Amino acid sequence: MDKKVRIGIIGTGGISHAHMRPYMSYGDVEVVAACDIVPGKAREFLDKYELTKAPDFESCHEMLKAVEMDGVSVCTYNTTHAECVIAALEAGVHVLCEKPMSFTLREAADMVVASKKAKKILTIGFQPRYDFWRKKVDSIIASGALGKVYYIQSGGGRRRGIPSGTFVDKEKAGYGCLGDIGCYSIDECLHAVGYPKPLTVSAVATNYFGTNPKYWPDPENFSVDDFSVALVRMEGDVTFIFKQSWAMHADSLGDTLWLGTEGAIKVKNSFDELNKPSRVMYYTDVDGNQVDSAVLASYPFDAYMAPAEGDIFYAKMRAFVDAVKTNGPAPVPGEEILHNQAILDGIYRSALSGSEVEIDIPNISL
Ligand SMILES: NC(=O)c1ccc[n+]([C@@H]2O[C@H](COP(=O)([O-])OP(=O)(O)OC[C@H]3O[C@@H](n4cnc5c(N)ncnc54)[C@H](O)[C@@H]3O)[C@@H](O)[C@H]2O)c1
Repeated sequence: MDKKVRIGIIGTGGISHAHMRPYMSYGDVEVVAACDIVPGKAREFLDKYELTKAPDFESCHEMLKAVEMDGVSVCTYNTTHAECVIAALEAGVHVLCEKPMSFTLREAADMVVASKKAKKILTIGFQPRYDFWRKKVDSIIASGALGKVYYIQSGGGRRRGIPSGTFVDKEKAGYGCLGDIGCYSIDECLHAVGYPKPLTVSAVATNYFGTNPKYWPDPENFSVDDFSVALVRMEGDVTFIFKQSWAMHADSLGDTLWLGTEGAIKVKNSFDELNKPSRVMYYTDVDGNQVDSAVLASYPFDAYMAPAEGDIFYAKMRAFVDAVKTNGPAPVPGEEILHNQAILDGIYRSALSGSEVEIDIPNISL
């Protein structure tokens, strides 16, 4: 593609600016239109970037009908992702959809089918995939050094980190902490091992912090979870323990772990550990001796982390633009993230019902 990649923005709230800044910095991209259901919001957004000639709309359907474009960023809240993504794909436009992929598993499957039918990219906005340390962990696990991975546990979590706005409104976000940062944890843990198919989930979700005026200023309007934990059985005899929190009285829910028959990886998650060189550890046996190794940054570390190459948001947007230019493949394919969404959906259903639930992945073949 020699001409500029023409991009439309659907939803012009908080995250849309993290799409716009990279787009505006690329010489090969032109943002041609934007829409938002709130009257005047898309106009204000475009004007802020001095795109005074680019038209604004209050509906993605109108925008996609009126303006020719190659790709869109879907930056709406979670419960409207499916509607906007499917509209764009049916209009023959490539899509970068923000995380989490959707609210329900059914919606996610419909999005994948729409992408296959249209033969257009559906990629999901998981910028941590481009994180320096994350790539190191992924590469060690992908090398097979751990042998058969049989147990995975997510870690991390926020001590105080309930976000404001639409994130705490069930009608708009669907999930709370589970969908917001839980989807990242699931991707971190399972992308590295090829996203085994989830079979059953037993989960609990609570909201003791968001509903308490001591910890959150507007408890009456807090309608989502702020903590969840789950045991997920996966195909191939893999067990996944998921934990996530927006608020708690601890610095971390523990370390992220992959246990294999030949070795293990641990990512230490407490705040004190974040910048330590020994944060990522590899454990194995050598000739009957137990060996612990710290995974180190390689020279030139500083150059690698410099904003131009190191900013994960820029990397995410660049990967989408490049994929549009070549008509694929999608950098983070919606089809792969279907298992992520299946786990979120399973945790949500299990926590609601108070019992273990089965996961039934919808048929996505055409
Ligand atoms: N990748 C990241 O780091 C990151 C960070 C923050 C948010 N997000 C994700 O981005 C999405 C949006 O989050 P946000 O903080 O920008 O929310 P927001 O509420 O600030 O913005 C969403 C915007 O979408 C608009 N909108 C809703 N439905 C629409 C529709 N059908 N058509 C057009 N516009 C519509 C809303 O009016 C609003 O302006 C969420 O899915 C969130 O999880 C990702």
